[in-house]
Amino acid sequence: MTILVTGARGRVGAAVVRGLLAQGEKVRAASTDPDSLTALPDEVERTRLDLASPQNLREVLHGIQKIFLYAQPAGAARLTEAAAAAGAGHIVLLSSLAIDTDGAGTSPIAQQHLLVEDVLRASGLGWTFVRPGGFATNALQWAPDVRAGRPLRLAYPETYSEPVHESDVADVAVRALLDEAHRGATLRVTGPQSLPARRQAELVAAAAGREVLVRLISPQEYREQLTAFLPAPLADTLLDYQAARDGRPQKTSDDVQAVLGRPALSFARWAKDNADAFR
Ligand SMILES: NC(=O)c1ccc[n+]([C@@H]2O[C@H](COP(=O)([O-])OP(=O)(O)OC[C@H]3O[C@@H](n4cnc5c(N)ncnc54)[C@H](OP(=O)(O)O)[C@@H]3O)[C@@H](O)[C@H]2O)c1
Repeated sequence: MTILVTGARGRVGAAVVRGLLAQGEKVRAASTDPDSLTALPDEVERTRLDLASPQNLREVLHGIQKIFLYAQPAGAARLTEAAAAAGAGHIVLLSSLAIDTDGAGTSPIAQQHLLVEDVLRASGLGWTFVRPGGFATNALQWAPDVRAGRPLRLAYPETYSEPVHESDVADVAVRALLDEAHRGATLRVTGPQSLPARRQAELVAAAAGREVLVRLISPQEYREQLTAFLPAPLADTLLDYQAARDGRPQKTSDDVQAVLGRPALSFARWAKDNADAFR
């Protein structure tokens, strides 16, 4: 069996490739830029993926039984058609827990993922939706300030999230690809604890051996900070999300424990794994 992993340069995609190899599976790693897949072991087949090209999709999907897919609405229907024509039976989608949160109907993040889920539901193929909450890697946006010794400028330092270690997302996706039991399932992946942003900053500080200070700024100033690197609708979604969870711990999901038979990895563990990025 050969499994196609799309977005193989991504953090989750690369970890899914490694997880499948560890299980003895044959992997074809697809990327918009396959020449940059230099970190993958030699045995991995590499291929260029162009979701806009039916010809490219036919070639990429030839001989593929299962697929790990990033949620890109533009090419999703073309991909499922080509996957069905190639005889593939199962797609595991990297979706988002934004679909389950209040305001999903107007959230561009939720809608982007829901569109692709709908395409998969209508495709006649087998599917599993892996819906992670906010990634622990989002804390990497703090890295330049932490390295420079500048305070983190936050509008909602007491806003709660349940940061997810990318290894948990990848491990759950690998099980979803390999175990029939997860066909047709929606797996919700959160970290093991709901933590305020300020506590997450403390854990980063402890792991990196740095002092990390937090400076309170207004929501408007925070919005300006976010729109420097995010489109305005995404910045607004993020701001609304943080405001809604200000001072409000959220429930975590048990799906990582149920699927992997071990607890989800903590944010403290993620901070240790990534401490060098903050030094
Ligand atoms: N961040 C969150 O809090 C969150 C929460 C829930 C769900 N998600 C989902 O997870 C996705 C992000 O996953 P991720 O963390 O694995 O993403 P990532 O590391 O940012 O990579 C995402 C994709 O970007 C492409 N890419 C372009 N240039 C790249 C570069 N220089 N290095 C690495 N990749 C590059 C890759 O696809 P190619 O190799 O094909 O170019 C890669 O798969 C989101 O898009 C969303 O669907 C995120």
